[in-house]
Amino acid sequence: MSSNRVATRIAEIPFAGIRKVFEKAARLEADGVKVIHFEIGRPDFDTPGHIKQAALEALQQGMVHYTANSGIMELRQAIAESIQRYKNLSYDPATEIMVTAGGQEAMYLSLQAILEPGDEVLVPDPGYPQFSSCVKLAGGVPVPLPLKPEKNFAPDLDATGTLLTDRTRAIIVNSPHNPTGAVLTSGQIRNTCDFARERDLLILSDEAYDRILYEGDDFLSPAAVPEMKERSLVWGSLSKTYAMTGWRIGYLAAPADVVAATIKMQQNVMLSVCSFAQAGAVAAIKGPQDCVDRMVNEFDRRRHAILEGIAKCPGLSCDALPLGAFYVFAKHDVPGWTSASLADRLLEQAGVAAVPGTAFGTHGEGYIRISYATSHEDCMDGMERIVRCMTELIR
Ligand SMILES: Cc1ncc(COP(=O)(O)O)c(C=O)c1O
Repeated sequence: MSSNRVATRIAEIPFAGIRKVFEKAARLEADGVKVIHFEIGRPDFDTPGHIKQAALEALQQGMVHYTANSGIMELRQAIAESIQRYKNLSYDPATEIMVTAGGQEAMYLSLQAILEPGDEVLVPDPGYPQFSSCVKLAGGVPVPLPLKPEKNFAPDLDATGTLLTDRTRAIIVNSPHNPTGAVLTSGQIRNTCDFARERDLLILSDEAYDRILYEGDDFLSPAAVPEMKERSLVWGSLSKTYAMTGWRIGYLAAPADVVAATIKMQQNVMLSVCSFAQAGAVAAIKGPQDCVDRMVNEFDRRRHAILEGIAKCPGLSCDALPLGAFYVFAKHDVPGWTSASLADRLLEQAGVAAVPGTAFGTHGEGYIRISYATSHEDCMDGMERIVRCMTELIR
């Protein structure tokens, strides 16, 4: 058999940088090292009890079959109500919403549904690495769009001149943002919408962290800007809001033709999302929301612990105050050290697993991402270790 068993288009997709750090950390742990996990973007909380109960009851009542490819109507309705409540946007649950296996599947399937081979998509740099991979897997070309640290990591729309071609189809927006924790102001969202409208682009809005906001309610979905709903695709998720990463529930909210095409993709990928997980998701959205407030308050406490640690740490600083998600993108200034070599040093010497900024694009050089989706105690311990390690490096 030929040695080329793997298709080139897959071989060209990089192995996730975050996973590399995770695996290295696991090897250290196997050798008995206590590692602080600042690399994982996964809330450490348990899923609230009433959500688990609803899934258990559905299972006991025999909800064990395939559902509609687009998900159960009750969940689509709940998602539409939630979008109405939190984003002031109206979607028809019958035609404009589909349930997906996490926001990740919404991204993958809908990019397959909309891109022609060679279509170009502006992706934030630094940004969630799967944006580029999913664009490539759909036959498109990701074009890194630099974010401006001095402007709260908003996309540098002035720098797009050379990046735009007649193949540019879409721009990806992600607020609150992974890896920086930045939340775009309503003015910045409106500017991005104007930019998309003037150039006839689609806006692909990843709203996985839409409920994890710390200061004020300044969240605006691009789809809620007048005249933008028709050119917007929203990728939503229950993973982070309700500590449900393992349940795999997300959604696509988009114009009906895009949803219909994405359902055809689903018919060839998952068929349908896990039935009793969908029942749990209904309880998550329709049930009490104080569990979300509690988790966000705890994330906020941890955010302060990380920021206080950075304020005390030689060689680390923060360009922009993170206002959402659960990440701090810390800038480092240690002559001769790249973000990859510094992240390695922190792991090997201090037992702290953080992700090099370059795992999120070339504009991530000079930064490390710290995720505070781990306990407050570990946040304090991790920052003390980082301060000690950086103090030694800089001496
Ligand atoms: C920006 C962003 N989008 C999407 C996802 C995927 O989340 P899920 O598929 O669990 O909804 C993640 C996960 O970390 C993310 O950070």
